[in-house]
Amino acid sequence: MDNRPIGIFDSGIGGLTVLKEVTEQLPNEDIVYFGDTARIPYGTKSKETVMKYSFQCIKFLLSKNVKAIIIACNTASAMALKEALEHFDVPIIGVIEPGAKAASAKSKNGKIGVIGTTGTINSEAYQKEIRELKKSSEVIGVACPLFVQIVEDGWQDTDVARIAAEKYLLDLKEHNVDTLVLGCTHYPILRYTLTKVMGEGVSLVNPAFETAKEAKQILKQNNILSGKVDKPIHCYYVSDDPEKFRRIGGNILNRNIHEIKKVDIEN
Ligand code: SIN
Repeated sequence: MDNRPIGIFDSGIGGLTVLKEVTEQLPNEDIVYFGDTARIPYGTKSKETVMKYSFQCIKFLLSKNVKAIIIACNTASAMALKEALEHFDVPIIGVIEPGAKAASAKSKNGKIGVIGTTGTINSEAYQKEIRELKKSSEVIGVACPLFVQIVEDGWQDTDVARIAAEKYLLDLKEHNVDTLVLGCTHYPILRYTLTKVMGEGVSLVNPAFETAKEAKQILKQNNILSGKVDKPIHCYYVSDDPEKFRRIGGNILNRNIHEIKKVDIEN
């Protein structure tokens, strides 16, 4: 048993989709969340930069005495998880492997679409992982960079989102994919628009849900689940604009976020 908090970090607000799933599947756990809102997006940056930022996020969370870390950001998971696991002596869970496993298990025709940031798609992290699980899978990756900004502006259910989705997803529809991995923290928030464009017959895989499941399993295996019975404590830190985080984050979590502290993690 270990009552220390779980640390979760993301390039910004989108990682709250992972926090939401973690709080549902691990309701007794305290959580420290860090959103690197000053430096979002990670998805357009080089591997070197994403690794540097990710290591700074991890060091910050470790300074808050966390017992395990979830890298909620797909871009950071794709570019920095392997190195982070080698460098830090704490369980670290990324979102790629859980998402890939779920997609591989779900697809019936073996045609799987993956959407994500340019960095995530170009890294081929999802594509490789899915093909490793099943060689015959046809995996098509499409970068959808505008989606992050659409969600950050709260436009997920508007015509702007629909038109962008129609354009981005055309190739995937033509390839007849039956499963679509939402390979960016922000995309589960676009679920309604994505279902409308892809059609009800296409299964959407939310790596946030799968990652929370994996985190629960890893905490259990390491015997570090919380034994707390009182109300869990969730602390939020951002590198910029706590007010925007409060407003949009509150919509993602469907509740008010009270304490948000702005911190500088670069030093
Ligand atoms: C980004 O930082 O570009 C989006 C977050 C993600 O990749 O999940």
